[in-house]
Amino acid sequence: MSASASIRAVQEQWRLSNRKPIIMCHIPWLLFLMALHLLRLVATAADDQFTFDSFAGENLTLDGTAAVTADGLLMLTNGTTLLKGHAFYPSPLRLRGGAASGGAVRSFSTAYVFGIVSEYADLSSPGLAFVVAKSNDFSTALQSQYMGLANAANNGNATNHFLAVELDTIVNAEFGDMSNNHAGINVNGLVSMVADDAGYYEDGTGAFRNMSLLNRTAAQVWVDFDARTSRVNVTMAPLELPKPRKPLLSATVNLSAIIDGGEAFVGFSSSTGVVSSRHYVLAWSFKMDGPAPPLNTSKLPALPVAILKPDLSKTLKIVLPIASAAFVSALAIVALMIRRRWHKYAELKEDWEVAFGPHRFSYKDLFHATKGFCDRHLLGIGGFGRVYRGVLPVSRLEVAVKKVSHESRQGMKEFVAEVVTIGQLRHRNLVQLLGYCRRQGELLLVYDYMPNGSLDKFLHSQNSLVLSWGQRLRIIKGVASSILYLHEDWEQVVLHRDIKASNVLLDADMNGRLGDFGLARLYDHGTDPHTTHVVGTMGYLAPELGHTGRASKASDVFAFGVFMLEVACGRRPVVQDEHGDPHLLLDLVLERWRHGTITDAVDQRLQGDFAVEEAMMRNQVANSHSSSSTVAGNISDIPRVR
Ligand SMILES: Nc1ncnc2c1ncn2[C@@H]1O[C@H](COP(=O)(O)OP(=O)(O)OP(=O)(O)O)[C@@H](O)[C@H]1O
Ligand SMILES: *[C@@H]1O[C@H](CO)[C@@H](O)[C@H](O)[C@H]1NC(C)=O
Ligand SMILES: *[C@@H]1O[C@H](CO)[C@@H](O)[C@H](O)[C@H]1NC(C)=O
Repeated sequence: MSASASIRAVQEQWRLSNRKPIIMCHIPWLLFLMALHLLRLVATAADDQFTFDSFAGENLTLDGTAAVTADGLLMLTNGTTLLKGHAFYPSPLRLRGGAASGGAVRSFSTAYVFGIVSEYADLSSPGLAFVVAKSNDFSTALQSQYMGLANAANNGNATNHFLAVELDTIVNAEFGDMSNNHAGINVNGLVSMVADDAGYYEDGTGAFRNMSLLNRTAAQVWVDFDARTSRVNVTMAPLELPKPRKPLLSATVNLSAIIDGGEAFVGFSSSTGVVSSRHYVLAWSFKMDGPAPPLNTSKLPALPVAILKPDLSKTLKIVLPIASAAFVSALAIVALMIRRRWHKYAELKEDWEVAFGPHRFSYKDLFHATKGFCDRHLLGIGGFGRVYRGVLPVSRLEVAVKKVSHESRQGMKEFVAEVVTIGQLRHRNLVQLLGYCRRQGELLLVYDYMPNGSLDKFLHSQNSLVLSWGQRLRIIKGVASSILYLHEDWEQVVLHRDIKASNVLLDADMNGRLGDFGLARLYDHGTDPHTTHVVGTMGYLAPELGHTGRASKASDVFAFGVFMLEVACGRRPVVQDEHGDPHLLLDLVLERWRHGTITDAVDQRLQGDFAVEEAMMRNQVANSHSSSSTVAGNISDIPRVR
C-alpha cells in the first residue's frame, strides 16, 4: 500500500464514521483513536518502502558473521570459512493486504547491489540470497552449501516458509546446480525452481551477456513480485547499466502458501564454505506495491580489496610444476641415496650360502669395522689383495680383513665351503679364519688380528728387531705343530699349500701362527707373477710338484723345511749371489752341511748367540718320533734340486 493509498483509506474511514450519529462527548476519544490509527498507518507506510544507500547506523537485525563495515557496507560473511550470516529488515512487512492476515498477497519490488570478494578469483563459497521469509530465525540452518537457509533435514520442506533468490558460486550436485556462476529462484530449499547463468539480456539486441559473480565487482539485482500474475522476476546487470527490460529468471510462485501469515521478513542470507570469501550488500531498496526506488550506484563505497590470493588455477599452474619438480627430484635424490647406500653395502649372496650363514659377515659391518677400508687401516698388500685392520662393531673383536678381488664365480661354492670348513679349525698356532663376505668381483676373508704382523718382516727387514734364537725356535715349533694338526689331527687332511715366512704371523706373545691358508684354491685362478701355475711360492716348492703338480703332505713339509731354513738363516729361500744369479737357500745350506760348516749358515745377526745342537738338530734326528724329526728327515732325504 502506498502512502497515498493509506491516506485514502483514512479518509474513507473518516467519511464512514462521520456518517453515523455520534454523541459529542465521544468525540475526543474517537479523535484519539483516529490519531493512533493514522500514526500506525503512517508507520506502515514508512515500512512499505525503504532505501539504504549505506548501512552505516541503520538498524538491521544481524546474526552470525553479518556486520556493517566502517564504510557502511553490509557484510554478510567476514572471510572466516564455514560460517553463516543473516541481515533482515528489523520489522516484518505486511505482505498481505487488508486488515486481516488472510488478505490477498501484495506485490513487492526490491533492488540491491551485491559484491563477492573471494580469496581466489575462480573459487568461492556458496554465495548469497535475498530472502522473503515468515521468520527471521535461521539458527538451525547450515552454512556451506545450504547458504544459511536450511539444513539437510529440512531442505525443501514447506514448513521452511521462505522464498529465496540465490546467487550461487558453487556447483552442488545434490541441489542440481548448473554452474558455479548462476542465479536461481528457490522456495523452501536449495534446489532452484528456475536457474540460469549469471548475466542479462541486452535491451537493444536481446542478446545474453554473461556476468561473473566472482570478479570482485559489485553488480545490481532486481527482484519483482507481481501479485496479479504471481510471478517473480529476477534481473541482473552491471552497475553502470539501467535495469534490463527482460528478466534473467521468471517463475510463478504461490507466495501466499509460502508466507501463510500476514507478515514476512525481508533480508539476506549467506554462508562460507571451505574457501574464505566475503559477501557484501552495498545498497538496498524495497517497496511494496510498486517498483523499488532506484539506487544511486555512482556513489557507492568501493568493494574492499582484501588481501587476495592469486587465481587458484594460476597458483596451481605455477606452484604445481615447481612442487612436483621438487617432489620428483627429492624422490630421485632419496632413490639415489638408497641406491648408493645399497650399492655401497651391496653383497653377493646365493642360495647355497644359506648353510654358511653363521660364517658370513655383512659387508656393512666390515665396511664400518675398517672405517671404509681406509689407508690408515691398511696392514699390508699381498699378492692377491690388501689386508685391513678392523674392529667389529658389536663384539669389538680385532680382525684382519683381506680383500681379494676375483672376477670368476667359478668354483666359488667349493671355495666358500672350504673357507667355512677351515673356519672350523682351531689351533693356537693357526690364525683363526672367522668368516667371509662376498661382493660383486670381491671376496673378503676375516681373520683374527695378529698384532705383530708377519714373520718375514722380522727376518728380512733391515731396521726390525732381531729375533732371538729362542724366539725363532718357538715360532718354528709352533708352526710345526699347526701343520701336524692340519695334516694328522683333524678329521680331514688339510693341505696348506703355501707355507712361507710371510704367511706366518706373530701374535701378541710372539707365537708363530700359520695363516692365509685356504686361498690355495683361489690361487688356482690367479695370474699373479708371484706364483707359478702350480700352487705355492717360488723357493718353497717341493721338486716333485714340478712333475706331478699335485700338492701333498710332503710338499707342505718341504715348504716348511725351507721355512725353517729361512728362519734359522735369516735369508730368503731364493738368494742371489754376488753376480746376481739366483740360488736356492736349500742348496747353500746343504753345501755347508756337506762341508761340515752348517753353523755358518745360521743368521749372522744372531752374532753366534744360538744353540749349536738345536741348529744342527742332532738330538732331534735321533728321535724320529717328533714332528720336527720328520721335517729334518725329509730335509736330509731331499734330493738335490737343480
Ligand atoms: N691376521 C692378520 N693380522 C695382522 N696382520 C695381517 C694378518 N693377515 C695379514 N696381515 C698383514 O697383511 C700383509 C699382507 O698379507 P697377505 O697374506 O695378503 O700377503 P702375503 O702373505 O704377503 O702374500 P700372499 O698374498 O702371496 O700370501 C701381511 O704381510 C701382514 O703384515
Ligand atoms: C567472523 O565472524 C565470526 C563470528 O562472529 C568470528 O568468530 C570471526 O572471528 C570473524 N572473522 C573475522 C576475520 O573477522
Ligand atoms: C708384539 O705385540 C705386542 C702387543 O701388541 C706388543 O706389546 C709387543 O711389543 C710386540 N712385539 C714386537 C716385537 O713388536
